[in-house]
Amino acid sequence: MLNIAVFCSGKGTNLQAIIKTIHEKDIEAKVSLIISDKEKAYCLERAKHAKIRAIFVNPKNFPSKQKFENRIIGYLKEENIGLIVLAGFMRMLSPFFVQNYSNKILNIHPSLLPAFKGSANAVADALDYGMKITGTTVHFVDEKLDNGPIVLQRAVEIAENDNEDSLRQKIQQQEHILYPLAIQLFVEGRLKIEGRRVEINPENYNPQD
Ligand code: GRF
Repeated sequence: MLNIAVFCSGKGTNLQAIIKTIHEKDIEAKVSLIISDKEKAYCLERAKHAKIRAIFVNPKNFPSKQKFENRIIGYLKEENIGLIVLAGFMRMLSPFFVQNYSNKILNIHPSLLPAFKGSANAVADALDYGMKITGTTVHFVDEKLDNGPIVLQRAVEIAENDNEDSLRQKIQQQEHILYPLAIQLFVEGRLKIEGRRVEINPENYNPQD
């Protein structure tokens, strides 16, 4: 059984979708730990409802980023975490942290990377740019922001009458399918990183699942 930690700073709708899918599909993994850098983040509430250990780690309580991350690493070790899932975690991890969990951290970004790489408002940015298509990307995390090898992507069409809210909703609907699927592929050992490419072992893999 692989222990997963989810890091989140906000609503936690992806967290919810991940917990639900792991349960429904009987995936050999367990969300054992939720870490948030925001005390009032709703993802912490969701974690409590799901009876998962949930910890608010206040960055302001640490004299340096390294000390903050060391505390988090302590929690990860306690729970024997084998995969870290960033789901709306609005804080960049240091190279030190990433190297500690090399190829064991996933992130989701609400655009078709590398479009709107590094943007904290990728949904609004796609609208402002006049894009006709945007989407979402699950990728491995490396030392640079929104940069690691891409696991899965899904496109979303932008309609004439879309606004930020409606477009975010469409993208999140796709995220709630895509992120659990990427996690399942990881848990089943079917992702192989070759440079920038992630090969997916096709056994039982149906992108429409
Ligand atoms: C998602 O749209 C994700 O792409 C971005 O942050 C958002 C998190 O939403 N990184 P939620 O907290 O899972 O609802």
